[in-house]
Amino acid sequence: MKKELVFLGAPASGKGTQTDLLSEHLGFPHIDTGSLLRAAIKAQTPEGLEAQKHMDQGHLVPVWLVGAIIKNRLSQDDCKNGYILDGYPRSMEQAAVLENINKELDKEPVDFRVIYFDINADVLLERIVNRRSCPKCGKIYNLKFLKPKEHGYCNECKTELIQRKDDTEETAKARFSTYFEQTAPLIKYYEDMGKLYKIDANGTIDEVWQRLLKVI
Ligand code: AP5
Repeated sequence: MKKELVFLGAPASGKGTQTDLLSEHLGFPHIDTGSLLRAAIKAQTPEGLEAQKHMDQGHLVPVWLVGAIIKNRLSQDDCKNGYILDGYPRSMEQAAVLENINKELDKEPVDFRVIYFDINADVLLERIVNRRSCPKCGKIYNLKFLKPKEHGYCNECKTELIQRKDDTEETAKARFSTYFEQTAPLIKYYEDMGKLYKIDANGTIDEVWQRLLKVI
């Protein structure tokens, strides 16, 4: 049965880190709206230019824009056996869009699960300001918790690491507010549907990984 996994959690709760591991483990694509939007910004497409205005403020990108990107991505052939959605949906409106996309694309019953990364808010800011990522292969590092072997360079492709533009303290705080106002209501929504699987996202990357394996 096709497996559709949605990762839900606050900024820096570890969704991207765990999705990378799980994507390799299951062989399903890791679909991360943040990275898709950053790629559109880099390519200076009209969608990217529009998205940038919202991302720089720590706000959500308009529903129509991110919905179109997701529909296009989920229609691709590599999603036919399953996928991991990291960072989508992020509002009740987006959840409705995803349901419509799935209705249109899924011809048979699917195993749909939402994995909620439950974490103490006081660790998030430290993780965000210390995050570095590889602009070439997308691998995620942390100056405190997951250091690259050679300072400032990706272990895999040796590219110089960058800090995301929205990983400053000020923008991170705006992202937290956006999360609590618009995304957190999805926890109850999916819980009421019986689709929510909560994992404790505190602790080391390996500890979280072991917990994740138990619920997928
Ligand atoms: P996006 O890129 O999706 O950012 P986010 O949701 O804020 O999530 P993050 O990428 O910050 O965190 P994460 O949970 O993936 O944590 P990570 O594994 O990297 O979105 C950015 C922006 O794009 C949004 O603000 C919005 O504007 C826009 N956008 C995106 N999707 C949208 C949508 N659907 N609708 C509208 N707008 C949208 O880990 C964080 C750090 O912690 C890393 O350095 C990592 O190494 C470290 N770490 C991870 N796990 C652990 C651990 N267990 N212990 C210690 N350190 C750890």
